[in-house]
Amino acid sequence: MIPTQTEIKRAQELRQLLQQASYAYYVLDAPIMEDAVYDQLYRELQQLEAEYPELVTADSPTQRVGEKPATHFTSVRHNIPLYSLENAFNLEELQAWEQRWRRQVPPTDSAEYVTELKIDGSALALTYQNGILVRGATRGDGEMGEDITQNVRTIRSIPLRLNFDGLENLEKIEVRGEAFLPLEVFQNLNERRQKAGEQLFANPRNAAAGTLRQLDSRIVAQRRLDFFAYTLHIPGMDDASIANTQWEALELLQKLGFRVNCEHRLCQSLAEVAEYYKYWDTERLNLPYMTDGVVVKLNSYKLQEQLGFTQKFPRWAVALKYPAEEAPTRVENIAVNVGRTGALTPLAEMRPVELAGTTVSRATLHNSDRIAQLDIRIGDTVIVRKAGEIIPEVVRVLKELRPSDTQPFVMPSHCPVCGQPVVRETGEAVTRCVNASCAAILKGSIEHWVSRDALDIKGVGEKLVHQLVDKGLVHAVADLYTLTKEQLCELERMGQKSAEKLIQAIAQSKNQPWSRVLYGLGIRHVGSVNAQLLTDKYRTVEQLATAKQSDIEGIYGIGAEIAQAVYQWFRIDANQKLIARLKATGLKLENTQVQSAVSSSNQKLAGKTFVITGTLPTLNREQAKELIQTAGGKVTDSVSKKTDYLVVGKDAGSKLAKAESLGITQLTEAQLLEILGKTE
Ligand code: IVH
Repeated sequence: MIPTQTEIKRAQELRQLLQQASYAYYVLDAPIMEDAVYDQLYRELQQLEAEYPELVTADSPTQRVGEKPATHFTSVRHNIPLYSLENAFNLEELQAWEQRWRRQVPPTDSAEYVTELKIDGSALALTYQNGILVRGATRGDGEMGEDITQNVRTIRSIPLRLNFDGLENLEKIEVRGEAFLPLEVFQNLNERRQKAGEQLFANPRNAAAGTLRQLDSRIVAQRRLDFFAYTLHIPGMDDASIANTQWEALELLQKLGFRVNCEHRLCQSLAEVAEYYKYWDTERLNLPYMTDGVVVKLNSYKLQEQLGFTQKFPRWAVALKYPAEEAPTRVENIAVNVGRTGALTPLAEMRPVELAGTTVSRATLHNSDRIAQLDIRIGDTVIVRKAGEIIPEVVRVLKELRPSDTQPFVMPSHCPVCGQPVVRETGEAVTRCVNASCAAILKGSIEHWVSRDALDIKGVGEKLVHQLVDKGLVHAVADLYTLTKEQLCELERMGQKSAEKLIQAIAQSKNQPWSRVLYGLGIRHVGSVNAQLLTDKYRTVEQLATAKQSDIEGIYGIGAEIAQAVYQWFRIDANQKLIARLKATGLKLENTQVQSAVSSSNQKLAGKTFVITGTLPTLNREQAKELIQTAGGKVTDSVSKKTDYLVVGKDAGSKLAKAESLGITQLTEAQLLEILGKTE
């Protein structure tokens, strides 16, 4: 079928409307359209495009959700190489840099600098052809990068079509900038990974780089990368024909529809640059993204051109870095920890050092590849780093200080806990213990089972779990439910009363919903969000256990990796037996009536962001949060322009004041329950 003129025009109009709304939301941070209206227009466009695939354009907002996974990325040569920046670590080095560039150009009295924040992410090179984004590539080695266009399209603050009024003659434009993960997104991502038993990203930079190189762009779309543009080039044309200064270039980038970091300044002297640097030394900790310094650029393109580049750097710019939170210390031992997924994680045990305000004595070494790469040995002096909330890591080994008698570290061939042979599958970095009855795996899985987001069994801590397993009282989570008072009383520091309380707490966990039980099973990649998605679709464990892998993957938000992990978990005999036992104890392995009501109205709060403040009359924070999340809403900690509702209880503090100043709708607990249809 061929679309009518009206339909062609409508598709165009919808694209434009949606683009404007998305630009206002993601770039300007000033929404112009209700979410519901956006969703409706989006669906209308989706339907039109489904009916007439020829109406789909590369810049259509529907192209941002990601496509089916790629098998690899293609290498591409950059139209203009991506240079790196020379570093200066203090003001003396900055002065030396100024003296150097001054010697290379005819004497100039004053020189204007533009100072920008140095965003700690991953550089991207974007190519636009006649205003349409045609290629996005990683930096690579500066000459060659990888074509990651599919992934770049999912970044909402990168325009798919430029705002091109009056610049139509610019056939080809190259824009460079930094893709990054906002801190909040990074923390949420790592929390989810921790819960799902996956390896954590060491910092937002690694997370951004890892995300950009994801072969499945649908995962990239979910990760909420952001982008700040910082340079603009027109291949084959003198850059000065579009702007004369870096300042003008930043203005132009903004006009074209990019997000430009708004903290850039014009400085008339190095003294002003120094002020900017000092100001951001402390102030950067309040930013919602990571920075690792400031970039100082000569403003004038004419001067930039006169100075040119060295092999690696522009002579007209320098990165003035902040000292990283790093320190040297000695490795006293390399221990191997076995987690609940069986993964063997080597840990460096070090002489304690002060870093970023805390004492650090252990750092993860991730896996044997990382160890080989570092060539770290017991007795080595190493540099450890810790930044903000991030887990400490060993950055490098000071080989020149290595004692003469050290041995390379070898990953054990047998599990240090159960003594069974370990396995490292081809293509995997992780070595695993695969003995399902390994005490370490068992302890880890019980700790996970009783944890707050799973079955939430109060009073069962790490020490108790260790005793239960070591004394042979518990061989699987199902054994928790048959523990007797007599057995418990034999444990250290356990009286009659506490034993009774414990048995009661364990019994009570049988009332927990199916989604928590599923999460508690600790299937790889199944965090609490995924568990909710799965149990919304598969209302009983039998349905899930017999579901086809392709059907599981069909759930919106569930990727191939997750589907495979779930499918395979249910194919293992021991797991089937565990399920049968759990069922026999009376645990809920299906949705009950009440929960079905919730799931059928599941999307009531979809797309809405909530903040809770003060003490609510009946619900505690966690309960309120869970109710909102189950209904598709999002709960954040701080009030911003993006907050839709503030749920207010007694003794509300500054959040209420802020919400009032922003005109955010307030709800009482009763109103919230009413919206959710939860009133009596
Ligand atoms: S300008 C030739 N400006 O820092 C110009 N780079 O250490 C080179 N970066 O690879 C880049 N914020 O990924 C520039 N405002 C900024 C930046 C910035 C972060 C990154 C960029 C570059 C690296 C060099």
